[in-house]
Amino acid sequence: MTRQAPAIILGIETSCDETAAAIVMRDQFGNSTIRSNVVRSQLDEHAAFGGVVPELAARAHVTFLDRIIAQACREAGVRLDEVDAIAATAGPGLIGGVLVGLTTAKALAAALDKPLIAVNHLEAHALTARLTDGVQFPYLMLLVSGGHSQFVLVRGVGDYERWGTTIDDALGEAFDKVAKMLSLGNPGGPAVEQIAKSGDPKRFKFPRPLLREARLDFSFSGLKTAVRLQAEALAPLSNQDVADIAASFQAAVAEIVAVRAGQALARFKSELPGAEPRLVVAGGVAANQIIGSALAKAATEAGAALIVPPIALCTDNGAMVAWAGAERFALGAGDGLDFAARPRWPLDLPDMRIVPDAA
Ligand code: KG4
Ligand code: ZN
Repeated sequence: MTRQAPAIILGIETSCDETAAAIVMRDQFGNSTIRSNVVRSQLDEHAAFGGVVPELAARAHVTFLDRIIAQACREAGVRLDEVDAIAATAGPGLIGGVLVGLTTAKALAAALDKPLIAVNHLEAHALTARLTDGVQFPYLMLLVSGGHSQFVLVRGVGDYERWGTTIDDALGEAFDKVAKMLSLGNPGGPAVEQIAKSGDPKRFKFPRPLLREARLDFSFSGLKTAVRLQAEALAPLSNQDVADIAASFQAAVAEIVAVRAGQALARFKSELPGAEPRLVVAGGVAANQIIGSALAKAATEAGAALIVPPIALCTDNGAMVAWAGAERFALGAGDGLDFAARPRWPLDLPDMRIVPDAA
C-alpha cells in the first residue's frame, strides 16, 4: 500500500557524534521541504580524546536528544502529534548511540500511535541528493565519510548495488589520522584542507594504492603509512612541512578518488546504456573542495552530471534521515517496534527492499 499523500516526517540521527533531529515534508509529487534541521555536534565532548569515544557519545545523545527533538518541532512550527511518521537511524553506527535514537523513536511512535521507520544511515546519505536536488533514479553514488568509502549504484529506494568499498580505512578516517600525525585539530578533514591551502601539493609524491588495479575499491592505509614515515623523517616539522605534507596527501587522495570515479562512471554507462550518467557525492568528505574539483573534472570527462548536496546535508544530520523515512513511508514501509539496532548494516542486502506496512 503506497501512501502518496503529503507527509510530515520527524527524523532522528544518533549513529555517531551528532545528535540531530529534523522535520521534513514530502508532498504527493515527491517534492521536499525541510521545515527544520537541528544538529548538535559533540566535538567538545570528544576533543580531549582525539576521536569519538562511543560511551561518551551515547551519554551525550541521552542528555540532549529530547531537547533537540523539541527544538526541531518548535522551529518547524509542527507539534509532535502532527507528524505522520517517526524515522530514526537504526544502523550502521556506534551501537550505544543508535540505541538511544531508535529507542526514543520507538517510544514516540508507541505513545503517539504513529508508524516507525527504521532508517539505514547509508540509505539516508544515498537519498540526500533527491531531498536537495530532486535527482531521478538511477544514479551512481560515491559515499565518502568518516566510516565509509564506497561506490553504490542507486536504482531506487531500497534498491542498491555496491560496486566498490575500502579494504581498510575510510577516506574521512584517513584525513582524521593524517591530521592527528600532523598535530592538527579535530575533525581532521577540514583542518587538513585548511592548512593544505598554503602547502605545495607536489613536494611529496605519496603512493596511490590499488590505482593500477581495475577494481572500484579503495585502500588508504599504505598512503597513511607513507605520510607518517615522511612526517617522522622530517621531524621536527616546520609549519611549511605540515602544509606541504597535507597538500601532497590531499592531492594523492583527490587523484585516487577522481580516477576511480571515472572508472565507476564508465561501468555505469556500459551497464545502464539508456540512463543519463549521474554521480552523486555524499558524506562529510564531500565538503573537500580539492576532491570536489577533481570529481567535477572526472564527471565532465565522462559526460556525467555531478551532484554535491550542500555541505550541511552531506555531513550527518536529521533531515536526511527524515527524508529517507519519507521516501520509504510513501512506498508503504513501516517497521515493528521490535526492530533491532544494527551496528553493521550493508546497503545492498535484500532486506533493504520495502516491506509494506500492514497498517
Ligand atoms: O558524514 P560525516 O559527517 O560522518 C560520518 O562519518 O558518517 O563525515 C565525517 C568525516 C570526518 O572524517 C571528517 O574529517 C571528514 O568527514 N571531513 C572532511 C572535510 N570535512 C569533513 N574531509 C576532508 N575535507 C573536508 N573539508
Ligand atoms: Zn554519515
